[in-house]
Amino acid sequence: MAYHGRHSGDVISSPPPVSSNPSENRKRILTGLRPSGPSHVGHYAGAFTQWLDLQNDFESFFLLADYQVSDYAENLPWIRWGLWEVTLDWLGVGLDPDRSFFVIESGVPEFAELTLHLSWFLGLGHLQRNPTLKAELADLENKADTVPVAFFNYPVMQVSNILLPLAHLVPVGDDQLPHIEMTRDVAMRFNRRFGETFVVPEGRVGKVPRLVGIDGKGKMGTSAGNAIFLKDTEETLRTKIRGMFTDPKRLRATDPGTVEGNPVFMYHDAFNPNTAEVDDLKTRYRAGTVGDVEVKDRLFDAMNTLLTPIRERRAYWAERPSDIRDVLRHGTTEMKRRAEPVMARVRTALSLDYLHDGPPPPPEGAP
Ligand code: TRP
Repeated sequence: MAYHGRHSGDVISSPPPVSSNPSENRKRILTGLRPSGPSHVGHYAGAFTQWLDLQNDFESFFLLADYQVSDYAENLPWIRWGLWEVTLDWLGVGLDPDRSFFVIESGVPEFAELTLHLSWFLGLGHLQRNPTLKAELADLENKADTVPVAFFNYPVMQVSNILLPLAHLVPVGDDQLPHIEMTRDVAMRFNRRFGETFVVPEGRVGKVPRLVGIDGKGKMGTSAGNAIFLKDTEETLRTKIRGMFTDPKRLRATDPGTVEGNPVFMYHDAFNPNTAEVDDLKTRYRAGTVGDVEVKDRLFDAMNTLLTPIRERRAYWAERPSDIRDVLRHGTTEMKRRAEPVMARVRTALSLDYLHDGPPPPPEGAP
């Protein structure tokens, strides 16, 4: 419903009820990802395992944040492709579209509208002090002149993503916590000034920190050439693990090796549920009585066991594109349905209902 279409007789002083369906009274999570390509095992360990747990207890909105992919306008073909890839990954790991909602960000224009309104409540200085943004901006330093305005909009968009569905909890990686802090700040200030409108959300960081890439250099990244993707075949998985960096100082299997900071053992800790085997490998590695090949073969077995059912579910859905379209349409439509009353309330709070009655009395001091 467009606000300028309201009839003068409509009652607008009290906001429309957010929900009349009791299942919608469950606490909600909203979280998301930029769909710039297929997901890797770092996403799985750091985010998806936590989401899988939470979807049992919370009404869950999983957002495909297409509008936040950097260089959006340059990357349209990648985003179109990446959105399907990420959706397949989510279905593959077992996020359940019968219980949870998969939402296409740009399919809910209310996000953009709320972003515009909330940009009045966030100072540029505040954004520039946000450590995550600061780091991203530093990466862009040499093209400072060409940084698009959208770069500064994206954290506000993220605030809108969280506030619009009235999410209670936002499970994220620790680099996203400054954005949650901003969200809380905006929600509290808006509520104080205009009356209870938004839920003040909590952030929650998962147990597994950022995973290093198979090159052992930086964190695993979709386009960094150091990722194991959820969709990798068994052969690709084997090749990637065989080529992983280990302890660079260890030349022979009989040399005592270092376990700490060794990518292969970090992956064992993250993905091998057989802790007795992992402990044994560590002991023998330190003593110089096990070779890299055996350590890697055990890792391959563990990861392949984990990824096989994911691969299979992914393949199942990949053959059913029209079902996937239904999933995305359903989640996006539901998000929009929830967004509309909240947006109506925001417009009322901001006195955008100009056509509701005649001209208002002049404010104090008006000429
Ligand atoms: N910015 C997040 C990332 O880069 C993705 C994201 C967009 C998000 N909107 C969100 C995460 C809302 C949590 C809540 O990973």
